[in-house]
Amino acid sequence: MKITYYGHACFAVEVNGKTIVFDPFITGNPLAKDIQLKNIKADYILISHGHEDHTADAVALAHQTNALVVSNFEICNWVQEKGINRVHAMNIGGHYFFDFGKLKCVNAIHSSSMPDGSYGGSAMGFLIETSHRNVYYSGDTALTYDMKLIGDYKRIDICMLPIGSNFTMGIDNAIIASEFVNCDKVIGMHYDTFPPIKIDHQEAKEKFTNAGKELLLMNIGESITI
Ligand code: NI
Ligand code: MN
Repeated sequence: MKITYYGHACFAVEVNGKTIVFDPFITGNPLAKDIQLKNIKADYILISHGHEDHTADAVALAHQTNALVVSNFEICNWVQEKGINRVHAMNIGGHYFFDFGKLKCVNAIHSSSMPDGSYGGSAMGFLIETSHRNVYYSGDTALTYDMKLIGDYKRIDICMLPIGSNFTMGIDNAIIASEFVNCDKVIGMHYDTFPPIKIDHQEAKEKFTNAGKELLLMNIGESITI
């Protein structure tokens, strides 16, 4: 499984010959200025919630790649109104088997209006189970005890958690979240993009190390293989 970071909360996960892009927000992200949207491939686009820093490039990327957009019912409707017909609506608690593996939608504690102010359903996170690795992408969320259910449910090899605070949980709560889901390998997301979510990288990494965990702060454009 290969994971590429495109900045903020946007990742591509390549597994079983398919590319899954999470929360595309590239052209509006000054930190991702070296990433060209037109070079990004996707078979699936997963959208955790409606906010602009998660949906801004979703329609353009779907047009460009013909990827299947997977999100909640309301966001799928919104995407369809913008001319994207390949959508698969889900909701929290549901799972579905795609050709890359099993995708389960899990709870996230956050809001979810669309950039135009329309209703964006409930924010959610995603659990991807494959024949190779299992990944938990929490989306924007507070720390929630519900994360214990995710850890009890499956072995999680790696998780992407927000660490920027202000709009989501911060570093200390992300450490607890990683305990709840029983996963010691964390990729940080949702930090540095805007002034209120700037973090001290060294301090963040040390806090995770002191808790017996590993925090990866990937460079934008960097890939890892697990
Ligand atoms: Ni948000
Ligand atoms: Mn956000």
